[in-house]
Amino acid sequence: MKNFSLPPSEELVPEYIRKLIPYKSGKPISELLREKNLKHVSKIASNENPLGPSPFAIREMTKALWDVHRYPDMHAYELKKSLSELYKLKPNNIILGNGSEGIMSYIVRTFLAPGDEVLTSENTFIGFYILARAVGANLKMVPLNRQFKFDVQKMSEAITERSKIIYIANPNNPTGTYLKKNEFDFLMSHVPERTLVILDEAYFEFAKDHNDFPDSMDYRYDNVITLRTFSKAYGMAGIRLGYGFAHEELIGHFHKIKLPFEPNLIAQAGGIGALQDRPHLERTIENNKNRYKDVIKYLQEKNITPIPSVCNFVTIKTQSSEASNYIYENLLNHGVIVRPLSSNEMPDFLRISLGSEQEMNHFYQSFDFIYQGILNKFGPFEILGNI
Ligand SMILES: Cc1ncc(COP(=O)(O)O)c(C=O)c1O
Repeated sequence: MKNFSLPPSEELVPEYIRKLIPYKSGKPISELLREKNLKHVSKIASNENPLGPSPFAIREMTKALWDVHRYPDMHAYELKKSLSELYKLKPNNIILGNGSEGIMSYIVRTFLAPGDEVLTSENTFIGFYILARAVGANLKMVPLNRQFKFDVQKMSEAITERSKIIYIANPNNPTGTYLKKNEFDFLMSHVPERTLVILDEAYFEFAKDHNDFPDSMDYRYDNVITLRTFSKAYGMAGIRLGYGFAHEELIGHFHKIKLPFEPNLIAQAGGIGALQDRPHLERTIENNKNRYKDVIKYLQEKNITPIPSVCNFVTIKTQSSEASNYIYENLLNHGVIVRPLSSNEMPDFLRISLGSEQEMNHFYQSFDFIYQGILNKFGPFEILGNI
């Protein structure tokens, strides 16, 4: 076999890439089935939709399979048309990508050069940190406030003439909290026009019914790029489809660096189908509301206070990082995958996605089984007061 030999990585790879820690996703079901020789696994770790995709999306994707010898429409005419009708926007204001993370990568590659300053919060979506660091940007991170929300006061104070991009996840992952209209307005009143704001609304559909949620479609800021996704409420995480809304001049720049055939042909077809099925989306939101009520009741009975969430997950504080690992590992033994948050710098927290009723029952039964062991080893859960 040929032996490969490379020069030292210092010569090949810029320092900001060498320092990166790769993204760690939720443990795949197949991996746990293999490792533990289990028959049944419930994955409630990656904020996926337990109802799956709409049958309309499946129908369109299945039809599209017959055309995969063709390149996709690089302008995604039909999907942009569907989105522009739904949101009353011009197709020129829409960008599509391989998930909203794909669009985030267009944004950072378009606007950021090594050394540029990006302002965001601690304990938000790690995918963004990685993408910004991968282009050599300097991340300036403000801690969340005591309610586990973006601290708009501190963020506004942290804006300087060097702030090029501000990243806000609203609602936020992994806390599930959201900025209300007045908080968003306050922050925006401090953002200069030359600073771009990425407003990541991956969980928009779950949050939109809260009256004080600032739906970015009700605003008109030329420096805001809204990102949304088919991965969460539309149940299509595996197909990688996200969309963004922005000023057409910004969209024009993204098109210069974007790979022309993203998103692929099947994803485009799936998106068109998914948008036709309003009832599926409503069932998803309804299921989520019910599962949220159940999980809150369950956790409260166990004297655990979750961070109030408007998303399809809840995050709980455990006694310590050791306790989080213990719970995570012991739930794995029962075939339940939740998400430890050490990569989000929240090692004493765990995130539980809201799965199907059956998956949640699997979680409750498994947690009941290990609960006394947790208390014996680590004492009672901390009550999070005043959040
Ligand atoms: C806040 C936030 N933004 C973006 C994403 C990425 O979504 P997508 O699958 O559209 O790339 C996630 C996924 O978990 C998320 O939580």
